[in-house]
Amino acid sequence: MYIAIDGPAGAGKSTVAQRVANRLSIPYIDTGAMYRSVTWNALRMGISIHDEIHLAQLAESLDIHFIPGAQGQTVYLGGEDVTQAIRSSEVGALVSTVAMHRLVREKLVERQRKMASEATGVVMDGRDIGTHVLKDADVKIYLTASLETRAKRRYDELVREGYKGTYADVLETVAKRDENDEQRTASPLRKAQDAVLLDTTTLSVDEVVEMIVALCEYRQ
Ligand code: C5P
Repeated sequence: MYIAIDGPAGAGKSTVAQRVANRLSIPYIDTGAMYRSVTWNALRMGISIHDEIHLAQLAESLDIHFIPGAQGQTVYLGGEDVTQAIRSSEVGALVSTVAMHRLVREKLVERQRKMASEATGVVMDGRDIGTHVLKDADVKIYLTASLETRAKRRYDELVREGYKGTYADVLETVAKRDENDEQRTASPLRKAQDAVLLDTTTLSVDEVVEMIVALCEYRQ
């Protein structure tokens, strides 16, 4: 079973996708972590977020591994645990600029399709999974929530990790990221025509997971 989950920032995609993958005993591929890892590596190496050629080289050579665990997935980059680092507010503010570059996307999409083809099923989340990466996915979900709800979820997550900024800053970053993701020319964020729209503003994670698992069982 191939499941594509797309949607704007902070809609709860990764939490939900991870839980659905556990329930169905299939791997979870967090494509946002791949764009974040390229951004984090570029910052560390002093590569400009506007330097498409060098960013694409980073994307091509990205040595990324996802290791599932009881507390969620750990992301390793060249053997280094970058799970927290790639979710910093600094990376969050720059990642959508990196993700606008067509060459970067081509390299990462190639790897995402390869990872999916090596498994008998996956849950993959991102922005272009149902519309581009896995166009033939068995189940497509477009997960969203109001901007304020999504910003609040992201703010709470950052605060738990020691963030000292304000909710207003996070709201602005999330709104800017959505705008970049929706307006870019290379596979912009869109709901696939055949995706099921789920607005999670008033739903709990458990409720969303149950709905998606039920849909998967129905389609099987
Ligand atoms: O999912 P997450 O919020 O971690 O994604 C970070 C950023 O990576 C998104 O805002 C978007 O710019 C980019 N992205 C993308 N395509 C994907 C996954 C993520 O452009 N499939």
